[in-house]
Amino acid sequence: MNNDWNKNSWKFYPIKQQPLWPNQNLLNDVFNKISKLPALVFAGETRSLETEIADAASGKTFILQAGDCSEEFSRCNGVEIHDLLKVILQMSIILSYAGERKVVKIGRIAGQYAKPRSSSFENINGISIPSYRGDMVNCFEPSAEARRPDPNRIIEGYFRSAATLNLVRAFTSGGYASLENVHGWSEASCHCYGSNIKYEDLVKGIKKTLAFMDSIGIGKKIPQLNQTSFYTSHEALLLDYEEALTRIDTTTGKWYDTSAHMLWVGDRTRQPEGAHVEFLRGVHNPIGVKVGPAFEIDELKSVLAKLNPTNKKGRISLITRLGACKIKDILPELVREISREGINVTWICDPMHGNTFKGSSGKKTRRYEDIIREIREFWEILKSEGSVPAGLHLELTGNAVTECIGGNSKICFSDLELNYRSTCDPRLNAEQAVELAFELAEIINE
Ligand code: PEP
Ligand code: CO
Repeated sequence: MNNDWNKNSWKFYPIKQQPLWPNQNLLNDVFNKISKLPALVFAGETRSLETEIADAASGKTFILQAGDCSEEFSRCNGVEIHDLLKVILQMSIILSYAGERKVVKIGRIAGQYAKPRSSSFENINGISIPSYRGDMVNCFEPSAEARRPDPNRIIEGYFRSAATLNLVRAFTSGGYASLENVHGWSEASCHCYGSNIKYEDLVKGIKKTLAFMDSIGIGKKIPQLNQTSFYTSHEALLLDYEEALTRIDTTTGKWYDTSAHMLWVGDRTRQPEGAHVEFLRGVHNPIGVKVGPAFEIDELKSVLAKLNPTNKKGRISLITRLGACKIKDILPELVREISREGINVTWICDPMHGNTFKGSSGKKTRRYEDIIREIREFWEILKSEGSVPAGLHLELTGNAVTECIGGNSKICFSDLELNYRSTCDPRLNAEQAVELAFELAEIINE
């Protein structure tokens, strides 16, 4: 690999998972336009996140990265954004109250609009049509016409990301995330089982603490109680888009991809000599590397060396997604090898992507119990190897969808027909997410 990096040097490397855009001229106009539009995030915030991720690796903070598998333009509205944020705030308060650690919140939000696919085509009623690749590329509707990649969707994705981020910032700094609202975050997610009682108890505990602080004169108006940081992330898949938002930070003179605070490289696109690794090695954002069960250790080490030649803490999060059945056989040796080599990584568990299967209806689903099992194994393995389990990466929504089966609400296969709304992978609903946070708090404290 040539050491000279530029924001377009990835173009000289083999690339996977890119759409076949029909109109190159229009595409060039789109990227030209985006490259002149404002950055979505500020490099200073990105650096703060890197510090928090480094702190998570040493056990000081805990990372909760969560959101849709694929965001949708049609759900870019106040209600949807509010509902997702609410469940993430709820989970984070459960984890920080029970786990006694600051929770670093990172959404799969404000830009998670492009998806890698295992197959370029799908069969609908005997007709083969191009696969859906995320709203920034084509339309979910199952027709050949709707699935044609449309460059104008990239511009729309940029503006919808900006609108989403604006509301996220308003909610998190404008008072909604105030601890005094802790009770209000539970509407719609805690009604039908034990979590509501647990959450009520937690709310009572927090209210008591706030009243005590007030009584001794600390007051309720301090920013820590009324505001929270919330970071954004998505898979850096469409490299032309990422390049168009890559800018030099005037404070440090370094390159940052300003489309999100954190970017990750998917399990399908992390080839050491591939375009995605080439692009990401040059931007100074914290990077997530997804690791599925088929990884090769030498290849992975070569990716880590390229992405983080100075072995900086906080730069790389290894997001393992091995599956509840395989994690025990694979993770211990991986953790040992990374420790033996002295490679600094922050260990994050994605218990979703290794546990996907199709129900008899053909709908993709995941079992809540497999998700918990993978989390538990991850925790035990990391701890017994002398490393730190630093966070969780989840696909979830604030809505009452029926996409993952199991949990206390006992969603079963036939319920998948009731409210299955994901255009890609199945997500935990708000109740399952809150239930998971309580179980995780227990795992953390064991
Ligand atoms: C995802 O996070 O939605 C995804 C496609 O993940 P992976 O690259 O781990 O398969
Ligand atoms: Co997914």
